[in-house]
Amino acid sequence: MRIISIDDDFDAWRTAALDALAQGLAPESIDWRTAQAEPALFNEAAPQQDAPDAPRIRVSRELSALLKDAAHFRDERRWSFLYRVLWRWAQGDRSAASAADEDGARLYKMAKAVRRAQHDMIAYVRFRQRDAALGAPEYVAWYEPDHDVLAWGAEHFAARMGRSTWLIATPDGAAMFDGARLQLERRRALASEHAVDTPDAAEGLWMTYYRSIFNPARLNESALEQHMPVRFWKGLPEGALIPQMVSAARGGARRVAQASSVGALGGKAVQVDAHEAQPERDAPTSLDSCRRCDLWRHATQAVPGAGPSGARIMLLGEQPGDQEDLKGEPFVGPAGQLLDEAMRRAGVPREQVYLTNAVKHFKWEPRGKRRLHKTPAQQEVDACSYWLEQELHDVGAPVIVTLGATALAALFGRRATLSAHIGRVVMYKDRQVVATYHPSYALRQNDEAARERTVAAIVEALEEARRLSGG
Ligand code: URA
Repeated sequence: MRIISIDDDFDAWRTAALDALAQGLAPESIDWRTAQAEPALFNEAAPQQDAPDAPRIRVSRELSALLKDAAHFRDERRWSFLYRVLWRWAQGDRSAASAADEDGARLYKMAKAVRRAQHDMIAYVRFRQRDAALGAPEYVAWYEPDHDVLAWGAEHFAARMGRSTWLIATPDGAAMFDGARLQLERRRALASEHAVDTPDAAEGLWMTYYRSIFNPARLNESALEQHMPVRFWKGLPEGALIPQMVSAARGGARRVAQASSVGALGGKAVQVDAHEAQPERDAPTSLDSCRRCDLWRHATQAVPGAGPSGARIMLLGEQPGDQEDLKGEPFVGPAGQLLDEAMRRAGVPREQVYLTNAVKHFKWEPRGKRRLHKTPAQQEVDACSYWLEQELHDVGAPVIVTLGATALAALFGRRATLSAHIGRVVMYKDRQVVATYHPSYALRQNDEAARERTVAAIVEALEEARRLSGG
């Protein structure tokens, strides 16, 4: 067994991993050990150079990004895992980077969790202003990230907070910005030196505001916890208020609690939109944060529609497939290729149509090493209609082509059958809808003639849509 000791960071691992590959060291023959990296000044650190004789192995841009992100996942075994993926890739085993492979799936999950932790850090870090007499840093924040994203988050804030001086302390390190340079400290010392729990002057105002927008009559505890997970409460000024307000509301004091908090406020009354006041499962703020159904749990990401907002034709599919899920774009896999061919035959340029799906997360089940498409339930389709309606409103396409039964049901409900609608033009609100088969249906047909008949029907529907849209 070869022991390889590295600093606990991606560049150090990368250099050592390339070296190990050059020596032909198999993953099971290496014991990866880490030492805490010395504090480094971010903007002074020179990029690590590979050893002069390190081999150049070509990895795809996608794999490179996945490795980099997954390197921040908190797991002692991550370096040996990442080496195993790299090793397999170097041996020509491309499935190591596929979400259908066990290692590949783990890699995607790790990278996704890290990206979520990055997003959370931006959303939940709250700086508190310190007494000016104490000197720098002017702002401090305590934060407990799920993964090792402090450096990433610190760079984000450094780029956005001008020349203010600040410190973010976490359980295993701190980042400090002196107005010009960012410094990463892997110890906790900085956190206590700068009294992170100092109350701040603006905090009183923020708390009053938060109390006033909290509407106990609309309390939905699970939505509240989903949008602001309990583990982040302690870093937020309003975190201390939430349990009190929730228990007041729970104790049957809903109206009283509301009246007392709002009534106690002096000054001008301010109208607050209920949705904004308390974001709910019903009103997610972005597609990627949508929790209206559970499909997000197993998907890599939400896949939004794509195309010009003034498109005259909208093509509505069922849900993203395996490749769409990984790429984050609709119709880029085999069904998309067949659809491209049908659009070409119908004289409908892809760049002029808006492509989207009834459901925005990939629903699948494992089958060996593959992720097999699973038809979404009507409940999931209904939950996702929130996004479809927004797209219909924003894009304004007067003609919609529904591809397959799920897309049709997304507009007209489960009772609308494809056989009754195929080839017909029907109205959905003020839009004309042409129903046709889903391209995957054509792909599933083994009989060449039947397949061509299905493709011809899709082409015909697209031609009809072109005529209806005035093209
Ligand atoms: N199938 C669909 O319905 N949509 C896609 O985006 C891909 C495959």
